Amino acid sequence: MVEIEKLKERLKEKSESDDDIGNFLEMLYKIVLENPKSEILEFGVSDRGSSTTAFLLGCHEVGGHLTSVDKRSCDNINKIVGDDNHWTFLKMDSKQFTSKKKFDICLIDSEHSYEQVKAECNVLDKVMKKRSIIFFHDTTMMPQITKAINEFMKRHNCFTSKLKEKNGMWAVELDD
Ligand SMILES: C[S@@+](CC[C@H](N)C(=O)[O-])C[C@H]1O[C@@H](n2cnc3c(N)ncnc32)[C@H](O)[C@@H]1O
Repeated sequence: MVEIEKLKERLKEKSESDDDIGNFLEMLYKIVLENPKSEILEFGVSDRGSSTTAFLLGCHEVGGHLTSVDKRSCDNINKIVGDDNHWTFLKMDSKQFTSKKKFDICLIDSEHSYEQVKAECNVLDKVMKKRSIIFFHDTTMMPQITKAINEFMKRHNCFTSKLKEKNGMWAVELDD
């Protein structure tokens, strides 16, 4: 199991770096702190694992579990975290993800095509809890994904915050 101090150091380093998601990591970490014992889902991990670090640190501090999905094996972050009872890594296409478990928090940050995000939103229809929150990264950088997100939002009662800084992040809070 990864040491909490190592995760803290890594989160600081990634937040201060030029990572395209660096400016949002503190927010991802804090949303976990505000929602202890959450079930968290992320699509898109990479060897960098910046969002993974933010979510996992929160889980270690206030309880909770992170399920991370990537089509690649993401060996670097798997080596850093190791065998950790707050974390499940699944090597698969996120379009194929199914779960009996329902999730409170989700980050979508995998392939930034309209088709992929549309398919991922279809998965979210089935696995997110009522009053859960979903973050979509790269909305400014990859505007084609906003079409899929808008279609998803039309199917739900929800509130949306559109953060425009850097690569952009939309936060969609489901009310149904
Ligand atoms: C931008 S990176 C994720 C960055 C990560 N969230 C972070 O904060 O460091 C995108 C990742 O999505 C993965 N990916 C791309 N298409 C995918 C798919 N269809 N299913 C699952 N993962 C996919 C890639 O392998 C890559 O590791």
